Amino acid sequence: MAALDSAALVAVIGAGAMGAGIAQVAAEAGHRVRLYDNRPGAAADAVRGIDRQLARLVEKGRLSPRTQVAICQRLQPIDSLDALGEARLVIEAIVEDLASKQALLRELEALCGKDCILASNTSSLSIDSLAAGLQQPQRVLGMHFFNPAPRMPLVEVVSGLASDPQLAATLYATAKAWGKQPVQVRSTPGFIVNRVARPFYAESLRLLQEGAADCATLDAVMREAGGFAMGAFELTDLIGHDVNHAVTCSVFEAFYGDPRFQPSLMQKALVDAGHLGRKRGRGFYCYDQASAPPAANELGSQALVQRCVVEGHLGVMQPLLERLRGQGIGVSERAGAGVLRVGDATLALSDGRLACQRAREDGLRNLVLLDLALDYASATRIAISVAADCTPQARDQAVALLRQAGLKVSLLADLPGLLVLRTVVTLANEAADAVLQGVASAGDIDLAMRAGVNYPCGPLAWADRLGVGFTLRVLDNLQRSYGEARYRPSLLLRRTHAEGGCLHA
Ligand code: NAI
Repeated sequence: MAALDSAALVAVIGAGAMGAGIAQVAAEAGHRVRLYDNRPGAAADAVRGIDRQLARLVEKGRLSPRTQVAICQRLQPIDSLDALGEARLVIEAIVEDLASKQALLRELEALCGKDCILASNTSSLSIDSLAAGLQQPQRVLGMHFFNPAPRMPLVEVVSGLASDPQLAATLYATAKAWGKQPVQVRSTPGFIVNRVARPFYAESLRLLQEGAADCATLDAVMREAGGFAMGAFELTDLIGHDVNHAVTCSVFEAFYGDPRFQPSLMQKALVDAGHLGRKRGRGFYCYDQASAPPAANELGSQALVQRCVVEGHLGVMQPLLERLRGQGIGVSERAGAGVLRVGDATLALSDGRLACQRAREDGLRNLVLLDLALDYASATRIAISVAADCTPQARDQAVALLRQAGLKVSLLADLPGLLVLRTVVTLANEAADAVLQGVASAGDIDLAMRAGVNYPCGPLAWADRLGVGFTLRVLDNLQRSYGEARYRPSLLLRRTHAEGGCLHA
């Protein structure tokens, strides 16, 4: 399906943060763009704001002055919707309120030509309820940009029950022609990103509430072991707890209270107290000048390790062995169940059980569990938890081994699945359920999570790397530990494992 011709007129309604950004994207792609806002002067202000942003790009030598002028000439603020008759695509980015958006769409349907696509940038409302009651619901679709629209590559093209698939294909091709990375998604709560990302926040919040470690430690582990650009606490402080908590609540309610999406009481307390994050100078962290940023916990060690023994294959942790050998540590190998022995200590990748439980069930003495790292060859930090009966000497030897491999070691309380592992398997679980329910393809979900929220790896591809069977086992163990449906594994994981297949085709 072809993209809209760049000669086609595009209209954007609502000239706030998103509308202005979307108008800029369309104008940069060569379209004439009319921008409307019901607040007098707002559309003209937005065009001046875009001009200022482009001027900064000119100063940095990233845009020619001629192009700046040409883009701005294509942007026309208008003060009445009557000027939209010849538009081929209208994208509304007005306030997130169902009644206001429905009223606007009814007005647009009467004013715009029959071949005009009516797209909404809504992040939480269903396309079905937006289209309901219109004469031509088939031309209503979601075109969900991410903030800031000129910089963020992802666009979710959302189809409701009535949406015309040909128009969805046109929007997809148009977003591509505008230099974006579109994905196709069925209208379900949270679409892809706002649904699949929930465990990223929820698991860190839960671990904090259960006393795993402090925010700075958990954030550092997510960055330096998990490879995420930010941890959940610094990210929610940036997004604003009011906004992030509201999205979680809206997804939770839309899924009729499914415990997978249960909001955090700890975050609710921040909202109630007005500790909304950076914008208020206080959230999980304090942002006044006087406060030094808190440091992550890091274990030291007195021991010096010269050799260790690997029993069996360490799975995704295998690259750790090269790191150890690179530091002159002798690594001998023998058959076994995938553990590393140093002195009296036994090190193993978490499988979603408590360290104390696994030590007892598997008969492992002095057990130290390791968290997942995105890449054990290059991670700079690793989280561990330690079984209650592990001796201080054995723990010290385990920490020394990891430190000699160049890893900072952060201690978490003995909670199942540690942090990165637990976050990745729950993200993959949510992604798998979205695939199972036909919300989007596996490829589009992974792409959305990389392009929309900068994950270092798509959750489904990550689960494939871990092994679908292992991912399933961790979730089963988490579910057993907590006794909660929150961790119930998606049927798609079970089926894919039984079939011996992959999630990310
Ligand atoms: P905003 O509050 O910055 O801008 C909304 C603009 O719409 C305001 O300028 C307002 O005057 C105007 N407006 C309100 N009612 C109107 C009407 N009936 N007709 C014409 N103009 C009207 O909001 P923002 O952040 O730009 O969000 C807009 C939409 O984009 C919402 O649906 C939101 O959920 C969605 N969205 C927001 C993202 C964000 O990070 N801010 C990300 C992705 C989507």
